[in-house]
Amino acid sequence: MSITEEIKQLKAEKNAVILAHYYVEPEVQDIADYIGDSFYLSKVAVGLKEQTIVFCGVSFMGESAKVLNPEKTVLMPDASADCPMAHMADRETIEKMRAKYEDLAVVCYINSTAELKQYSDVCVTSANAVKIVKQLPNKNIFFIPDRNLAHYVASQVPEKHFVYNEGFCPIHEHMILQEVLDAKAAHPGALVLTHPECPKAILDVSDYIGSTSGIIQYAKGSEKKEFIICTENGVRYKLEKENPDKQFYFTKTGPVCTDMKKITLEKVLHILQTGENEVHVTDSLRELSGKPLERMLELGK
Ligand code: 13P
Ligand code: SF4
Repeated sequence: MSITEEIKQLKAEKNAVILAHYYVEPEVQDIADYIGDSFYLSKVAVGLKEQTIVFCGVSFMGESAKVLNPEKTVLMPDASADCPMAHMADRETIEKMRAKYEDLAVVCYINSTAELKQYSDVCVTSANAVKIVKQLPNKNIFFIPDRNLAHYVASQVPEKHFVYNEGFCPIHEHMILQEVLDAKAAHPGALVLTHPECPKAILDVSDYIGSTSGIIQYAKGSEKKEFIICTENGVRYKLEKENPDKQFYFTKTGPVCTDMKKITLEKVLHILQTGENEVHVTDSLRELSGKPLERMLELGK
């Protein structure tokens, strides 16, 4: 029996469902029941009929799934797959900002620990941040942890006053402008599709800015045939599968999230066999970090 068949068989026996982010390896995306961006996956995680959720992604994703579904078992194929940006904010700074600004909303990117979410007013993802911030009654927004997404959202919601935090995604932060310009020079007809975790210099030379799902939908709906993609290279698989007649180019220094790439079929099989790497969240952390997540699902509808 192949490893894929073994996973399928065990999944049925254990009443499990597999969720995967677009940044994981193609063969892992292939065994997933649901593949998507962070917003889609957090919505899908609510109301699944299976008892066990196997989350092929990084730890904040599994943690959010557990917080939203406390009665379910959530298993991570690799417990060390973590998002460095998820830790790039702290409680002291949040408290300082709350004391400094009246009428402040702490807006927390879903790429954050539950520990940070619990001190926040609402969560957002790159797919819904603009929509949600626009709906907040507060004038002042402290956006954590990602400064790049914060600056992008601020540019779309000029009526709010933003306070920035110095977090970033190392993969998107280090996208090299010259490499994007080189790709544009090599493919003058191509559109540049960019994730808002990239710095402003990259957004400024882009034709479309959106989440991973946004980028995939835009490429599919476009009449153009060539695209330069400024995000993690895992999206290439879905883009090429859905658009065999189109060309996708990435920057020369391939943007690769090593944490997402830790997820392998062998590890998925192993946790299904053993039940290892279960996500645990204390009751109080679940209650407190669940509120901003639920508010996001409500406002993001
Ligand atoms: P989205 O999939 O929500 O666009 O987020 C990108 C990302 O960096 C996930 O870790
Ligand atoms: Fe975190 Fe960036 Fe990796 Fe996404 S791509 S999980 S934001 S390090």
